[in-house]
Amino acid sequence: MKLSSSEGSSTRLPQWEMYSSSKHGVRFLLKQAGALPQQVAAPKCQTCHMQQGNHAVRTAWGFLAVRLPMPEDKQWATDRATILQALGVLDPEGNPTPRLEIVKQADVARLTQEDWQKERDKMLATCNQCHSKNFAKAELEKADQMIRETDRLLAEAIRLVAGLYQDGILKKPESYAYPFPDLLTFHDAPTVIEQRLFEMHLKHRMRAFQGAFHANPDYALWYGWSEMVRDLTEIREMAEELRRRAAPR
Ligand code: HEC
Ligand code: HEC
Repeated sequence: MKLSSSEGSSTRLPQWEMYSSSKHGVRFLLKQAGALPQQVAAPKCQTCHMQQGNHAVRTAWGFLAVRLPMPEDKQWATDRATILQALGVLDPEGNPTPRLEIVKQADVARLTQEDWQKERDKMLATCNQCHSKNFAKAELEKADQMIRETDRLLAEAIRLVAGLYQDGILKKPESYAYPFPDLLTFHDAPTVIEQRLFEMHLKHRMRAFQGAFHANPDYALWYGWSEMVRDLTEIREMAEELRRRAAPR
């Protein structure tokens, strides 16, 4: 994704929100206001995302926070497979679909361990301008774990909605290739439960893991994680209600 070079026009991004209320952003804003001296350290978007003036913004996890190869953790691997199915890059049997080719060509996800590690090392070197390697590594790993935790919640929600398609309780939209939620074409999701799943994925999960990466645990927790917990609870209740209504009396 492209980042704006002027701080002003990026203020509507959630990344700006999570950054500006993090220690990094607060210091940057205090510097701008003249409350902190100019030589004080305060990384801004470009410090971390355009290393050495490189404008090709490319991160280890990318915008969707999925990658290959699959993790060794069995539960996480199962959850990620469900998410990849809902992104339409794996079919319901777990085989690659033509969409995987598109993902490859658009370079929106890292598809090898080496590719991921390269981006991670670049980021670590940036943190290391101001922090110890060990501190930065541990912080980024905490954010990796946040992805694992959000995947747990999201995969469960996807399976609930997939179950409704498969049991004919919810009508699969025409545009979906498989009897499975399609997270990339959910804009025209026809029902409340489907819209909820779309928001859970694109809005709340994104805030949870990117908030963690942007050194703002408070934001990650309140605007990301706890919203996801509520999403899942409501999706579960709606799924039960839909099943009740569909049951023969
Ligand atoms: C202190 C370093 C740092 C600063 C400052 C920072 N980011 Fe990030 N950003 C990260 C890290 C780390 C990740 C996650 C990288 C990964 O995937 O491992 C990330 C991820 C992202 C992502 C999602 C990944 C993607 O490829 O799309 C976006 C978008 C983003 N940042 C935008 C911004 C914007 C906009 C700002 C300024 C308002 C900003 N960042 C400031 C470190 C930073
Ligand atoms: C340009 C210097 C700079 C860079 C680059 C930088 N930071 Fe920071 N970071 C700071 C400063 C300064 C603080 C504030 C320290 C304080 O308040 O005690 C801070 C605070 C933090 C905190 C909060 C610590 C706390 O006590 O709450 C975390 C977490 C953090 N940084 C992680 C990172 C990570 C991860 C990266 C790389 C993605 C990074 N930082 C890159 C300067 C930097």
